[in-house]
Amino acid sequence: MGFFKLTRLLMLMCAFLPPSAPDPNDESCLTKFFESMEDPNHNLMNWTKPTFANPCSGFFSNLVGATCNNGRIYKLSLPNLDLRGSISPYLSNCTNLQSLDLSNNSFTGFIPTELQYLLNLAVLNLSANRLSATIPPSLAMCAYLNVIDLHHNTLTGSIPPQLGSLVRLSVFDVSDNKLSGPIPASLGNRTGNLPRFNASSYSGNKDLYGYPLGPMRSKGLSVVVIVGIGLGSGLLSLVLSFTVVCVWLRVTENRMAAEQEGKITQLMPEY
Ligand SMILES: *[C@@H]1O[C@H](CO)[C@@H](O)[C@H](O)[C@H]1NC(C)=O
Ligand SMILES: *[C@@H]1O[C@H](CO)[C@@H](O)[C@H](O)[C@H]1NC(C)=O
Ligand SMILES: *[C@@H]1O[C@H](CO)[C@@H](O)[C@H](O)[C@H]1NC(C)=O
Ligand SMILES: *[C@@H]1O[C@H](CO)[C@@H](O)[C@H](O)[C@H]1NC(C)=O
Ligand SMILES: *[C@@H]1O[C@H](CO)[C@@H](O)[C@H](O)[C@H]1NC(C)=O
Ligand SMILES: *[C@@H]1O[C@H](CO)[C@@H](O)[C@H](O)[C@H]1NC(C)=O
Repeated sequence: MGFFKLTRLLMLMCAFLPPSAPDPNDESCLTKFFESMEDPNHNLMNWTKPTFANPCSGFFSNLVGATCNNGRIYKLSLPNLDLRGSISPYLSNCTNLQSLDLSNNSFTGFIPTELQYLLNLAVLNLSANRLSATIPPSLAMCAYLNVIDLHHNTLTGSIPPQLGSLVRLSVFDVSDNKLSGPIPASLGNRTGNLPRFNASSYSGNKDLYGYPLGPMRSKGLSVVVIVGIGLGSGLLSLVLSFTVVCVWLRVTENRMAAEQEGKITQLMPEY
């Protein structure tokens, strides 16, 4: 029997096995996650309370966007749905989650530090939302992370150097945010001739600097600006005082001329 046939047979057998008992952690995860967000376009029509108690039947999930494995939620893929609200910290109760893709929605608020409890997480894609505040350093606890895609949000603060310890990280994108400070050596570091992640991972953050971006960009620029303003204002005041002196000279000259003329006209009638 070929490998393919064998796997198909195994999959069929598994599908007919009685579903494993639903997990109370998954139920709390899905309930709280759903409660904390808004779905204005009703994309998640079949995300209903009874389904949260029993989200998996064998390999299949009863919830659109969710995938199951061994009766547990192991993937949540909900991109491009215009979902709003905050990202619930209770997502961390989906302890078997390997992939979380909430990209290209309108989620606001911060990235919950509780995501650190998702010890199986390999893919985290929260790109193209409106997430703010800082990137939690505790994400480094998720040792299996392969992908961290946070591009196009409004994240602030510096990039946690702890993330450099994620040895499996192969995609790291924090471009188009409001991050500042130095790029940690552990994430910009060269391996051979190449940076670990190139400039496109970091671009679009005005105050971020260091390899593979330029050195101290913002500070260098402000020094130039300050010197420029100093020189410019010095020159301007010089020009201004020079003009004042010129005008004053011209005025006195005119007055003197007028006075002279006045004397002459005053003298005239006597003759
Ligand atoms: C879910 O997460 C919360 C907060 O992290 C925790 O207090 C709770 O024990 C977890 N489990 C369940 C079943 O709610
Ligand atoms: C919800 O939608 C998904 C995808 O369309 C489907 O696989 C699943 O069976 C649906 N669940 C229910 C309870 O209708
Ligand atoms: C983002 O989602 C919107 C729908 O909400 C869609 O029209 C757009 O093409 C998506 N963008 C990307 C880059 O997938
Ligand atoms: C993350 O999601 C965005 C938008 O859906 C997609 O374009 C991008 O390729 C994803 N990132 C990765 C590393 O797969
Ligand atoms: C560069 O990264 C490697 C691991 O990828 C690490 O061993 C080394 O210390 C780093 N060098 C610097 C200067 O950070
Ligand atoms: C940067 O790296 C990404 C993938 O890691 C690649 O697609 C892109 O072409 C690289 N850009 C440059 C300018 O090297």
